[in-house]
Amino acid sequence: MTPFTVLTPLAAWFLARWGPRSEESYAGEALPPRHPRARLCVEGIGEVGYFVAMKPNFLDLLESDRVPLYLAPQAGVSESPFRRLCRSYGADVVVSEFVSSEGIRRNDPRTHEYLRFDDDERPIGIQIFGAEPAAMAEAAALVEDVYGPDFLDLNFGCPVKKVVKRNGGSGCLRDLDLVQQIIRSVAAATRIPTTVKIRSGWSEELRNPVEIALRCQDAGAAVLTLHARTRTQMYGGSADWDEIAAVVDALDIPVVGNGDVWNGADALRLREHTGCAGIMIARGSHGAPWIFGQARAALDGKPIPLDPFVRERFDMVREHAQLAIAFERDEEKAMIEFRKHLGWYTKGLPNGRQLRQELFGVRKLVEVDSLLERYAEESATALAA
Ligand SMILES: Cc1cc2nc3c(=O)[nH]c(=O)nc-3n(C[C@H](O)[C@H](O)[C@H](O)COP(=O)(O)O)c2cc1C
Repeated sequence: MTPFTVLTPLAAWFLARWGPRSEESYAGEALPPRHPRARLCVEGIGEVGYFVAMKPNFLDLLESDRVPLYLAPQAGVSESPFRRLCRSYGADVVVSEFVSSEGIRRNDPRTHEYLRFDDDERPIGIQIFGAEPAAMAEAAALVEDVYGPDFLDLNFGCPVKKVVKRNGGSGCLRDLDLVQQIIRSVAAATRIPTTVKIRSGWSEELRNPVEIALRCQDAGAAVLTLHARTRTQMYGGSADWDEIAAVVDALDIPVVGNGDVWNGADALRLREHTGCAGIMIARGSHGAPWIFGQARAALDGKPIPLDPFVRERFDMVREHAQLAIAFERDEEKAMIEFRKHLGWYTKGLPNGRQLRQELFGVRKLVEVDSLLERYAEESATALAA
């Protein structure tokens, strides 16, 4: 996809929404036309409706017995290349990193880079954040019309100071009326499901995941994900799975459990402990996209596959790096960004210290290739000796 292909539909959308309009174009139309539809005409009667390109409804996944596995939204990690890789290793649903509603409304080109995705990532949710109901609704409508994700996810969990200072992310959890207004505005402005991701509360004193979750459901959330920590906990302590179980019991909508799933066995334990309809994995996927296959095996009662061996792992690194370069279209920039993944992929490798240090300096894929090849050969020789 070129900047042109991103910006042209964007410009068209802005024109459709805010550009000069004829009297006719106002007639009974609340929202600009969606992308994949064609007029449906019956001979002798005329136009009777539209064909809408049907995508499988991702909500059906949550109603089935096959608990879907989500790749969590993660800023700087859950980008398109990693999402594609995780989908190919068994993630059933992916969510974009959080995107600022203000950035979307300002038509900031960098923000729009975060919104791009490939069809093979579906079902995908785009996650947005902000504390202004009208601005969130406008951003959500734009994302739906221009990018067409399967659902919109609202971030009420981000603990980062810069975000909560303006009441964004988990900052909203201090004002549940505001949370409800945001959900209502977004749900009213869009046709795809509005889902939410919350933490257990702002602080220990304001910890009340069941109340927060019920308020989200009442406001129209179609699915709720709970990361069972408060904002003040950040990532410390452990996620309280009892809270996930309590929210599952209290809500009618599907609940996705999140927090501290580090391997396949954890995924099964979380499901058994809480009865959650879906499982979301974040840090456990770092340098380990295969965790989704292991989690699936555990949930299906099958033996959990071993972590891949060195060669297989390195093939995965190359594939991921190639996807990253193709997405970024600037090899050096992509590889500098990719260094964190290289660190994760090689964490814990026997005698891997030197390899990791060298990988942190790479700027080209060929450098990665030769470092990995040298390590694989040396470890094969060491094993044979
Ligand atoms: C690097 C990183 C970036 C994250 N970015 C987001 C984000 O953009 N949106 C969001 O809702 N949560 C974000 N999270 C939180 C995760 O989605 C998840 O809720 C949290 O890490 C707990 O899950 P885990 O125990 O499986 O890691 C982020 C987490 C990490 C580690």
